[in-house]
Amino acid sequence: MEIIRVTGKNKLEGEVQLQGSKNSALPILAAAVSVNGISVIHNCPSLTDVDAAIKILEHIGCHVSRQNSTVVIDSTDVDRCDIPQHLMHEMRSSIVFLGPLLSRFGSACVSTPGGCEIGLRPIDLHLSSMRKMGAVITEDSGVLNCSCNGRLQGSKIVLSFPSVGATENIMIAAATAKGTTVLINAAREPEIRDLAVYLNNCGAKIKGAGEGTVVIEGVKQLHSVEHSVIPDRIIASTFMAAAAVTGGKVLIKGVVPSHITPVISTFEEAGCRVDTGASRLYICAPKKLNRVKTIRTMPYPGFPTDSQAIVMSMLCLAKGTSVIVENIFENRYRHVHELRKLGAKIDVEGKIAIVEGVDTFKAAHVCAPDLRGGAALVVAGLAADGLTEIENIKLIDRGCQDIEKLLRSLGADIVRVNAV
Ligand code: UD1
Repeated sequence: MEIIRVTGKNKLEGEVQLQGSKNSALPILAAAVSVNGISVIHNCPSLTDVDAAIKILEHIGCHVSRQNSTVVIDSTDVDRCDIPQHLMHEMRSSIVFLGPLLSRFGSACVSTPGGCEIGLRPIDLHLSSMRKMGAVITEDSGVLNCSCNGRLQGSKIVLSFPSVGATENIMIAAATAKGTTVLINAAREPEIRDLAVYLNNCGAKIKGAGEGTVVIEGVKQLHSVEHSVIPDRIIASTFMAAAAVTGGKVLIKGVVPSHITPVISTFEEAGCRVDTGASRLYICAPKKLNRVKTIRTMPYPGFPTDSQAIVMSMLCLAKGTSVIVENIFENRYRHVHELRKLGAKIDVEGKIAIVEGVDTFKAAHVCAPDLRGGAALVVAGLAADGLTEIENIKLIDRGCQDIEKLLRSLGADIVRVNAV
């Protein structure tokens, strides 16, 4: 079993290059199924979730090759429309293969997906949207059998919540559906826009991606393309927090600052100096961090739920009491129990967490509860007195590429070791 060992209190200094966005890469890899040809995807991060997506692509008959951060998918010969349960269970975003399979084959057989245990995470919006586009879906012991009469049919779809995954599924499915789809209350995350750029470069006709209403005029076929994935805004916030809790100064290269506007404001409110330029962000932390006013996680452009745990680690060390309201997932405070082992003072009531700042973290043995919760523990370990050990780091590897190597390059005393 691999664990991360971090001895805290080293000031982080230096520069770091941001990885490609996991949440952009995954739907783009799924969308490659709809393409009759070759997709060359650059800046694709090396993560276990990406490995899981590639396993699905290979299972259905794509030829996939990978060199450094470039993944090449030849989907000319795809010949299966089923995804076995063990592959679906590796990550939640496997459900985003439903739209592409339906649009390519007119049928799909998938099971309900897996993923981090951060809440119920139903897929009702994905299923009702596919039904609206003409799919007939039956469920039998967790297996979903889906089919449509020939091609999916463009439709007017109103989402009751701007689900990121459902928006992606609909956009991919509608790209080659018959007629026009109008999607209302779509998610507006930068990853949605990135997916639309990829699909449009394949010949799709998508307008308004990144806005509340997206109009997708179906085309008969999508063709080969080359695309570069946008940088990972959540990893950017992870490095910002790492700099902040160690009183450090870090330059993050490759970032799109406008993708993390509310996160930048939060760090500024906590007393950090943040300078941004085209594709770069410099953060300089104060000696002592300040509390911040209430943080409410919201769909984009609000404060991202994926940065909540990471920023909470930082607020644990601020002067005064901060309040966080988690509005997106109902079980996204599992890191609190672990942060308390490090001496954090946090009360949780329902979706509200009250974080009372303490002087320092004390090293402890902790366990990553989920991907971002695990990253939050790494951040906390960087600021703790003594040696912190973090286990269950396979969850961190789902979304963070080379986290310990990059932090070490900034001066952190951190290693990955095999523990017996
Ligand atoms: C994506 C991101 C994830 C991020 C989340 C919210 C990827 C691979 N993952 O996840 O990192 O935390 O957006 O920004 O991009 N919901 C339903 N029914 C549905 C779908 C969603 O009730 O059919 C609910 C979910 O339970 C959750 C909320 O909507 O409470 C947001 O989910 P959604 O936006 O779909 O998140 P994901 O696409 O799973």
